[in-house]
Amino acid sequence: MAKRVLRTKLCDMLGIEYPVIAAGMGPTLIGETTGAPVDLVVAVSEAGGMGVLGGSGFSVESLRDAIREIKAKTKKPYGVDLLLPQKLDVGGGLGQKGPKELPLSAILKAMPQSHQDWVKKIKDEMQLPEVEIIVKMNTTTMRPQESIQVCIDEKVPLFCAGLGNPGFMVKDAHAAGMKVLGITGNAKNARRMAQSGIDLLVAQGHEGGGHTGRIGTMALLPQAIDAAYPVPVLAAGGIGDGRGLAAALAMGCVGAWVGTRFLATDEGGALPVNKKHIIDSTDEDTRVSKAYTGKTLRASYNKFHDLWDGSGLEPLPFPTQVLISSALLASFVQAKKDDYVGGLAGQVSGLIKEIKPARQVLEEMVEEAVDILTRRLPENVTAK
Ligand SMILES: Cc1cc2nc3c(=O)[nH]c(=O)nc-3n(C[C@H](O)[C@H](O)[C@H](O)COP(=O)(O)O)c2cc1C
Repeated sequence: MAKRVLRTKLCDMLGIEYPVIAAGMGPTLIGETTGAPVDLVVAVSEAGGMGVLGGSGFSVESLRDAIREIKAKTKKPYGVDLLLPQKLDVGGGLGQKGPKELPLSAILKAMPQSHQDWVKKIKDEMQLPEVEIIVKMNTTTMRPQESIQVCIDEKVPLFCAGLGNPGFMVKDAHAAGMKVLGITGNAKNARRMAQSGIDLLVAQGHEGGGHTGRIGTMALLPQAIDAAYPVPVLAAGGIGDGRGLAAALAMGCVGAWVGTRFLATDEGGALPVNKKHIIDSTDEDTRVSKAYTGKTLRASYNKFHDLWDGSGLEPLPFPTQVLISSALLASFVQAKKDDYVGGLAGQVSGLIKEIKPARQVLEEMVEEAVDILTRRLPENVTAK
C-alpha cells in the first residue's frame, strides 16, 4: 500500500511527517528506567512522528547523555519532557549542593511517624523483603534551571513542560531555535499558558495516564482550543488508535499526544509486569489515586490502591509521597507481588491487546485515521 499522507500545521511547525507525538513519560518507580526512554523516542521519530524523552527521573548529567544518544541515533526532530517545580530554586539548591544520592531508608526517617509506621506495618504483615533504593537527589526536577540550560545548549527541538508553566523560558528557547510546549487539564490554565508565549499546548483529559485533571477529553478539547487560541492544541488522554486521532483532528486539534499506547510497545520503558497489566486491562481497570505522588495520578488498578485507601492517611505533598509509595512498591516488585504493582496507565488500556513495535503502532494509527478522514465514515453516518 502507498504511504499515507496525514499532515497538519503541527507537521510544518516541528518538521515531522505525521501529527502524532509520543508523550514524555518519566519513571514509574524510583530506580526504574523512564517510561519514554531513548529507544522509544528514536523509534517514533524515525517512523515519522515525534518521540519525547521522559526526562524527569534523570540526573542533569544523564539527561545530557541521553539527548546526545538520541542525536547520535536519529537526525529526525525529537523532544524532551521535564516536570518543572513551582519554584525554580527548589529545595534551596539542595540538588546542587547536597549529596547526589541518599538511601531511601535514611530519607524515610525524616517522614511523618504515621507514614513510617504504616510502611513498616504493611511490610511486617506481608513479610516483604527489605529493598534498599538509592534516591537520586540531583534529578532534573531538583535542578530545573541547569536541566533547562542543558536542553537549550543541546538545542532540543521541542521542550515540553509536564508540570508548571514554561512561559519564562520561551525567549531563550526561541533564540536557540527551539519550540516550547505546555500541558494542561483545564481551560483556565490553557488560556494562562497560551498567553505566556508558548508555541504549543497539550490538553489532557481525565482519561489519561499519569497525573491527570478532572475534565474528560471530549469536553476539554473544544474549550481548551477556544481558550488557547491562536496557540495550537494537541489532544491527550484516551487516544489509542486511528479513531481517537481522527476525532482529535476533527475537533480542531493539530495533533495527538499519546502516552499509554506507546508505553505498551516493544520500546516503551514500563516494567514487564506493568505492560502485562495494560494488556490484561478492561476499560474499568485504572484508578486515580494520590497514593503514588500526592497528586491525582492514574495507574492500572492494583491492591496497593486498596492498602492506601484503608490507611486513613493524608498523602504527603508532591513529590514527598513518591518516597512512601516507592518504599513499598520496590518490595512488592522484589517479592513478585504482581497484584500490588500497577504502573501509570490511562483508561485506553482496555483498547490495547498487544505489545508491538512503536513504528507499527504509529503506522496503524495514521492508516486508520486517514481512512476515516478520507472515505470510511462510520456506517451509520451520512454526510454531504
Ligand atoms: C507511565 C507514564 C508516565 C508519565 N510521565 C509523565 C511525565 O513524566 N511527564 C509528563 O508530562 N507526563 C507524563 N505522563 C502523562 C503523558 O505525558 C500523557 O499526557 C498521557 O499519558 C496521555 O494520556 P494517555 O495515557 O491516555 O495517552 C505519563 C504517563 C504515563 C502513562
